[in-house]
Amino acid sequence: MAVAYRRAKESDFSDSIEVLKQAFAPSCYEATLVALLWRNEKISAHYVATEAGKLVGYIAYSLGMAPGGLPIGLHLAPIAVHPAAQRRGIGRGLLNHSLDDLGSGVPLFVLGEPAFYGRFGFVPDPTLHSCFDETGGNFQVLGRGIIAPGEVLYEPEFHQAFNEVADRTVNKSANEE
Ligand SMILES: CC(C)(COP(=O)(O)OP(=O)(O)OC[C@H]1O[C@@H](n2cnc3c(N)ncnc32)[C@H](O)[C@@H]1OP(=O)(O)O)[C@@H](O)C(=O)NCCC(=O)NCCS
Repeated sequence: MAVAYRRAKESDFSDSIEVLKQAFAPSCYEATLVALLWRNEKISAHYVATEAGKLVGYIAYSLGMAPGGLPIGLHLAPIAVHPAAQRRGIGRGLLNHSLDDLGSGVPLFVLGEPAFYGRFGFVPDPTLHSCFDETGGNFQVLGRGIIAPGEVLYEPEFHQAFNEVADRTVNKSANEE
C-alpha cells in the first residue's frame, strides 16, 4: 500500500496523538507534549504519513532558542510511526519529506540516536547543549550555519509536559492506594 506524506491538518490532531501514544508506550510524555504544543500554537511545522487513508506517522518541529529567547532554529521532536507500521521505511520517508519541505535555510536540532539521525545528515555538536541530553552526545544539529556556542532552549511546553505527566502519575498512585 502506498504511503503518502503531507503537512498535518487540524483534523489530524486525535490520530496524531494516538500514534504518539502507541509508538512511545508506556510513556505518555510525547503525546502530552504535542497536545500542549498544538493547542498553544507552538508547532512551527508538522507532517503526517498516511497509508490507505489511515494516519501511521507523525513528526513535529518547534522553535529552538538561544538563552534570552532569540529563535535560532527548529527542534525536531518528536517523530513516531505506529508500531504496526514500523521498520517499513515510513520513519525515513517522513523525515526526508519534512527535511525537503523545510529546506536548508533553517538549522535543525534533534535529541536522539546518532545511529538513526546521522543517516539524515545530523551531526553531534559539542559546542551546543540541550538540557534534556542527560548522557551527552545525543544532541545533534543539521545545517548549523552561524550559531553561538551554548544551550539551545525549548518551548516551555517541553517542561510543562514533564510536570503534567508527573502529576498524573502521582494522582494515579494515590488513587490506587
Ligand atoms: C524511530 C521510528 C520513528 C523509526 O520509524 P520506522 O518507520 O520504524 O523507521 P524506518 O523503517 O524508516 O527505518 C529507517 C532506518 O532507521 C533504522 N532504525 C529505525 N528505528 C531505529 C532506532 N530506534 N535506532 C536506530 N535505527 C533505527 C532502521 O533499521 C532503518 O535502517 P535501514 O534503512 O538500514 O533499514 C519508529 O521506530 C518509532 O516510532 N519508534 C518509537 C518512537 C521513537 O523512538 N521515536 C524516535 C525518538 S523521538
